[in-house]
This record gives sequence, structure tokens and C-alpha cells, in this order.
Amino acid sequence: MDVSSPDTDEPGSRVKRLRQATAAAHDQLDRRVMAGRPFADFKRYALFLQVQYRFHAVVDPLYRDGALGHLLPDLDGRRRLALIKQDLLDVAGLIPGDAPQGHPGTIDPTGGLGWLYVAEGSSLGAAILLKEARKLGLSEAHGARHLAGHPDGRGLHWRQFTSALDQVALTGDGERRVAAGATEAFRFVHRLVGDAFGD
Ligand code: HEM
Repeated sequence: MDVSSPDTDEPGSRVKRLRQATAAAHDQLDRRVMAGRPFADFKRYALFLQVQYRFHAVVDPLYRDGALGHLLPDLDGRRRLALIKQDLLDVAGLIPGDAPQGHPGTIDPTGGLGWLYVAEGSSLGAAILLKEARKLGLSEAHGARHLAGHPDGRGLHWRQFTSALDQVALTGDGERRVAAGATEAFRFVHRLVGDAFGD
């Protein structure tokens, strides 16, 4: 075994590196979403839901991936696509049928770890978005199901995911591919937001 492989000697945890590598992309996306005023009315909220639906339609196969399911806790239970679909039906939004521009196609499992980091991390900010959705009269039981926190608590549910992600053993350029996956995911969501709310 090549013990001097640079990947294993990097300082800090994998999740910390992902957070640092994507912090700017996250802030830009956060601002871009809020500039779209997704909670101004049902019509704009439905546009936000279509963004979430298109994103989760891409990552859903990763949540159903058996190999990834062995590495990450309760992966199947973390799927949100069906909840988003129900939310769209609640607010009379259209369920997107066509593949969006820039669809990444099939994502390889290692890059998929980066996409799952972004999808799971987005449930942290959902706490803020749920508060806004409530002002529209929506809730975890109607129209904002996918923004609900896990019964164990968002923080604990997130930490269970991140500690497992940190434990995944990767070789060769595995670290680079996970980080590339996370960056691709943010870029893809940013594009969906631009398509939905207009650039
Ligand atoms: C629209 C407005 C958004 C707001 C207000 C928001 C807010 C937040 C907040 C407060 C956190 C927790 C930060 C921390 O505890 O350090 C967070 C984390 C995160 N958010 Fe967002 N977010 C938004 C949108 C998104 C979107 C659309 C995505 C991706 C699709 C996303 C992905 C993430 C990720 C991956 C993390 C975890 C970062 C980490 O701790 O490693 N966020 N967000």
C-alpha cells in the first residue's frame, strides 16, 4: 500500500475540506435563491419547488445506490423527491417532466458522495426556508413537507451523515472527485435557479 499518497495526509476532515471548497458557491446560491423571492407568493414558491424537484430527481438514484447505502446511514430514508412532488401538488405547481439543461447524466458513486453532501447539507438551511414558507400558510403537512427537519433533529441527522462521509476510505484521486462532485452539484442547482427565476 502507498502510505505516502497525498490524499490521506491532508489536514482536517473531508467534510471540512468540502465546506471550505464550496463556501463561496453556497453563499452565491443562497443569495441567488433569495433574490428570486421564492416566498413572495405561491407562483414563485412553485418555481422554487421545481428547482428542488429537478435537483432531487438527479440525486435520487444516489440515495437508492446499494453501495453508497452501505457507507452512509439511512440513505434511503433521507430521500426527499416524493415529498417535493407532494409539495408541488399541494401548491398546484407543475411536476417538471423534461430533463433540465446541464443534466449531469449518471453520476459515479465517488463524485456522488460530493452531490449527496450538497443535498443533505441543504436541509440545514431548510430550517430558515420553512419559517418563510409558514408565512405563506404552508407547513410540514402541506406544501413544505420537504423542508421538515428529521425527528432526531437536523443537527444530529447531519452529524450522523458527515461523520460517516468522513469515514469513507478513498484511494487515488478519490478526494478530488468528491470535491468535484460537490462543486458540480452547486453549479447545477445555481443553473436551475437561473432557469427558474430568470438570470
Ligand atoms: C436559499 C437559501 C439558503 C439558505 C438561507 C441556506 C442557509 C444555510 C445554513 C444556515 C447552513 C448551516 C451553516 C452552518 O451551520 O455552518 C447551510 C448549510 C448548507 N447549505 Fe445552505 N442555505 C440555502 C440554500 C442552499 C441550497 C440551495 C443548497 C444546495 C442545494 C445548500 C447547501 C448547503 C450545504 C451543503 C450546507 C452544509 C455546509 C457544511 O456545514 O458543510 N444551501 N445553509
